[in-house]
Parts: sequence; structure tokens; C-alpha cells
Amino acid sequence: MDLEVQERTRAHYDRHAPADANSRQGMEERQNGLAFPLKQFHNEVKKQLLYRFARDKPRLLDLACGRGGDLHKWVGAGVRYVKGLDLSPNEIDEARRRYQELLTRKPNLGQRFRADFEPSDILGVRDWMDEPGAPKYDIVSCMFAIHYFFVTEAGLKQFFRNVSLNLNTGGYFVGTCPDGKQAGDDEGGSEELFGPFGMLLKAAAPRKDGLTAMLLEYNR
Ligand SMILES: C[S@@+](CC[C@H](N)C(=O)[O-])C[C@H]1O[C@@H](n2cnc3c(N)ncnc32)[C@H](O)[C@@H]1O
Repeated sequence: MDLEVQERTRAHYDRHAPADANSRQGMEERQNGLAFPLKQFHNEVKKQLLYRFARDKPRLLDLACGRGGDLHKWVGAGVRYVKGLDLSPNEIDEARRRYQELLTRKPNLGQRFRADFEPSDILGVRDWMDEPGAPKYDIVSCMFAIHYFFVTEAGLKQFFRNVSLNLNTGGYFVGTCPDGKQAGDDEGGSEELFGPFGMLLKAAAPRKDGLTAMLLEYNR
């Protein structure tokens, strides 16, 4: 894992978790944003995967969980316990806040769903182990973040070792990522647009379908 790249990624996502993420203004801005239709599509893809592979599973480990954007999908799929790990402490704070807010709104939910969120900067660096004695996970997921581990081959291998170490025999790993080649081709095939790990190197003009805005958000 290239630790300098990882640090830039962490700083980006720490800035990206604004305090007003859930305010009316924040919600309206996102819904009117160019990337909104693509975000809806991504959410539907994640939902289909989780509803198919994580249905009623006892334990799910989400690697790079962000601000807990999949909270409602985990609950809807009937998962009983989720542990979410992410590089960005601010994203983790926001995930915890959203989880607590959901429990406040639905006090009975706590009887059938629990979640813990922890910052972690070691997923592509060394072994991540749960607390001693904890059972392994039935599902390990990594949604729209696996591309960050492709920075080096060693980092990617370590990431998959962590998937393997924590997954029950017969369990599933599910993951999603943007198609970098397709995205580059859509932007005119400019090789200099994207760095080796999908970082946006040069801004492109926004497109009507919002693709550019989404790439900016995922890669900048
Ligand atoms: C596009 S967001 C996706 C968040 C969430 N999985 C979702 O689908 O809503 C990418 C996330 O990957 C996290 N991330 C990037 N590199 C990481 C690493 N090396 N270890 C853990 N998390 C990482 C970022 O902090 C960010 O929250």
C-alpha cells in the first residue's frame, strides 16, 4: 500500500464528511446535483447485491463503509450485525451518528439490528483481526472502494487476505467499483485524466448524465 496515497485519500474523505450532510440544504443540494441519477443507480446495484447475498445473515463486515450510506440496505436485507471499517475518522463519526439517529427514530430496531463502526488504516497494510473470540463474518463487502487498494499489488493482496481471514467458510465477498477504463473512454479516452489508482488528475467538463461529477466525487 502506498501510504502517501492513503493519507491523501483519508484527508479527502475527512473533508468530505461535512457536519451538514443530513441538513435539509445538504439533502437538496445532493438531490439537485448532476450525479444524483448515477448515485441512485449505484444504490440500486448495492441493494440488489445485499438483498441477494446478505439476506437474513447474522454478520456482515463492510470494508470502507464510508458514512454508513448502506445502513438502510443492511436493515432491509435483514442482516443482524454489521461492523463497518473506514480509513476516514470523520466518515466513521458520521456513520455512528446516522446509526444512533436511526435507533432513536426506531427504538425497537435495536432488538434485531446492531452496528459498530471503527476507523482503520491497515486494511491494505497488515492483517486486520476482530476482537478475540468474535465469530467470523458471513458476508464481507466493499462498496465503491475496492479501487483504492489497487494502488500496489501488495496492498491488493493484503486487502484480499483480510477478506479471507474474516470470512466464514461458504460466506460471500461482494464488492462494487466504477469501471475505470469505461470511465476514461467516456471522457474521450484521455490517459492523463486518471492516475494509476483512479485519482482524477484533470477536471473534465460536466456531462448531462452526471458521470463526470460522480467521477470527481469518487476519484478526486
Ligand atoms: C466512495 S466511498 C464509498 C463508501 C461506502 N462504501 C458506500 O458505498 O457508500 C469510498 C470510501 O473508501 C474509504 N477508503 C479509501 N481507502 C481506504 C482504505 N485504504 N482503507 C479503508 N477505507 C478506505 C474512504 O474513506 C471512503 O469512505
